[in-house]
Amino acid sequence: MSNGILKGKKGIVFGALNDASIAWKVAQRCVEEGAEIILTNAPVAKKIGQTEVLAKELNTEVIYCDVTKMEDLENLVSQSLEKLGGKFDFVLHSVGMSLNVRKKKAYTDLNYDWMHTSIDISAMSFHRLMQVLWKQDAVKDWGSIMALSYIAAQRTFPDYSEMAEAKSMLESIARSFGYHYGKAKKVRVNTISQSPTMTTAGSGVGGFDAFYNYANKMSPLGNASADACADYVITMFSDYTKMVTMQNLFHDGGFSNTGISSDLMDDFRDPE
Ligand SMILES: NC(=O)c1ccc[n+]([C@@H]2O[C@H](COP(=O)([O-])OP(=O)(O)OC[C@H]3O[C@@H](n4cnc5c(N)ncnc54)[C@H](O)[C@@H]3O)[C@@H](O)[C@H]2O)c1
Repeated sequence: MSNGILKGKKGIVFGALNDASIAWKVAQRCVEEGAEIILTNAPVAKKIGQTEVLAKELNTEVIYCDVTKMEDLENLVSQSLEKLGGKFDFVLHSVGMSLNVRKKKAYTDLNYDWMHTSIDISAMSFHRLMQVLWKQDAVKDWGSIMALSYIAAQRTFPDYSEMAEAKSMLESIARSFGYHYGKAKKVRVNTISQSPTMTTAGSGVGGFDAFYNYANKMSPLGNASADACADYVITMFSDYTKMVTMQNLFHDGGFSNTGISSDLMDDFRDPE
């Protein structure tokens, strides 16, 4: 399905590691809708990911960038400006990583060096990216910048650990930078809070199957898929959402506003 809603637009998509990645689907939908994009990922993705396979499919290229490094981001933005032949209409930050989760460290026993790195990669990088975009004046007026979040920013999900803090900060950065970018350039900045999704980052969270199934049973529409998320992201990149900024937008099949679902009630009834 293509309606050409991104026809003539240009942008950067972070975080397409493999075909399960949310960013993978977003990149495909951007191109389907008529956009020209540059893909980027961490240098290690060259070894462990398939970003270049996607680049080939979409007739574009990958510029590697570790989001914790200012010089990598500066290089990515200046090279992309050159390769795309002008300023960007949109940027997707689809990056997250928790060292403490990956190394199975309990939340009550966090390693703070690791936590620092997790927050740097998953949250501060969003500020760093926008600072570089701002300084290079790389985004067109009325452009759209998005990042992906999770409801653990507002409510406790024990196994999500330090990523809850990272996502809270990410959403706060969207509001704060969104104010400045809106005032100066009419650029909008938002986060999408997505359902649990079977991806490399998602399934790294302990007990992810239970997490996923619980959310699926709670949500009146069921969990939102990565494909559905891509549809939402491209809508946010289009000219149909020009006045939406500084928001955290739930894309979760109704999970965030549901107290309990009839499906889950059935699991808790006393036997007759
Ligand atoms: N999967 C879920 O359940 C879920 C739910 C809500 C939000 N999200 C968010 O969606 C986003 C994308 O994750 P995903 O689920 O598609 O998983 P993914 O593992 O496919 O994507 C995460 C990406 O982050 C990249 N990355 C990690 N460290 C980096 C660094 N230092 N520099 C540059 N890139 C780096 C990885 O290479 C990878 O491409 C993340 O922000 C994640 O927290 C995921």
